[in-house]
Amino acid sequence: MSVILKDRVYWIGYIDWNLRDFHSFEAKRGVTYNSYFIKDNDCALIDAVKGPFADDLLKKLAELSDFSKIKYVVCNHAELDHAGALPEVMKALPNAQLVCNKKCQGTLNLHFDTSNWNFKIVSTGDTISLGERTLRFIDTPMVHWPESMFTYLEEDKILFSMDAFGQHYTSSKHFDYEVPTALVIEEAKAYYANILMPFGKPIEKTLAQLENIEIEMIAPSHGIIWKESIEQIVSLYKDWSAYKAKSKVLVIYDTMWQSTASMARAILKGVEDSGVDVKLISIRNSNLTDIATEVLDSAGIAFGSSTINGEMMPMAGAVLTYLKGLKPKNKIAFAFGSYGWGRGGVDGIVEYFDKLKWEILREPIKSKYRPDEKILDECYNAGKMMAEKTKQVG
Ligand code: FEO
Repeated sequence: MSVILKDRVYWIGYIDWNLRDFHSFEAKRGVTYNSYFIKDNDCALIDAVKGPFADDLLKKLAELSDFSKIKYVVCNHAELDHAGALPEVMKALPNAQLVCNKKCQGTLNLHFDTSNWNFKIVSTGDTISLGERTLRFIDTPMVHWPESMFTYLEEDKILFSMDAFGQHYTSSKHFDYEVPTALVIEEAKAYYANILMPFGKPIEKTLAQLENIEIEMIAPSHGIIWKESIEQIVSLYKDWSAYKAKSKVLVIYDTMWQSTASMARAILKGVEDSGVDVKLISIRNSNLTDIATEVLDSAGIAFGSSTINGEMMPMAGAVLTYLKGLKPKNKIAFAFGSYGWGRGGVDGIVEYFDKLKWEILREPIKSKYRPDEKILDECYNAGKMMAEKTKQVG
């Protein structure tokens, strides 16, 4: 079923209700692939869907238009969750031109046999008249891939923003005012942290380009369409892309026999007693997606692991490897953990801090086997010190 955004502008995407693993992103509320259709003298499809759902997209399209009247298929982003259905779409639409920027054409050529596609190459500022309405294009490199682009429907003031402002959120409702705002914001934050966090600078540039554009609706390629909360989500994107941290501490740890866990709880208490917001995260009872989401706006990170075979715990390593790729900035950190006869675990954490370019608050706290009162006091005081330091941030 299609959904009307404005007169003759439709959502015709696919709701993947039960998908939980989106290339390792834990999508606890499912995923949507949003495709949009504009009916005018010339009709345009804005973005496709993931490959397996091409038939569904074509069925929805057939209910709205004769395929011969569709003149443009805009590809804002070549990643396969949106471009995957393009081969079937282009085959089905005999008169359609594939509208994208030069980089996108190069990427599509490397994914598909595009020899029969009729490309129309656009870049920032270019427009296409559909008759009564106009499409304007804005290149947004690295938001999320090098070829990423926004399409703006001028007369209706709708911004088709592909991944930007997206969320992995499924609902039979499609607009922000129809669903609980807090949940959509929570998912927008998770999406930003796990997909877009490495690209703060390009996102800042993109936001600056939007300053002079009047926007009544932001229609991303994932999740809910923004109408009532545009100001809120744009303001959050400004904070996130500037790596603005809150006065908040995370105590993240993995433990074998509870020694590192005891240290983590002592650190937690030190932060709590200082009145600063703090969360205790046991890595094996959490997941990469939730941890990255918490890291996004936390100023302080205490990271702990026991030592196993001279290294940190494997899942602690997975978290730090994942974070190294996401490149969170503006963090103050220290490491802690227990060991038996080899000390590699905690030293390995500090190596990651260096790679992440995080400010190191103090030397690591290490405990041979079980932490005694002296070590637990040291952990408590380190928590207090971390709390005081993060107070200067928020
Ligand atoms: Fe939703 Fe970067 O693709």
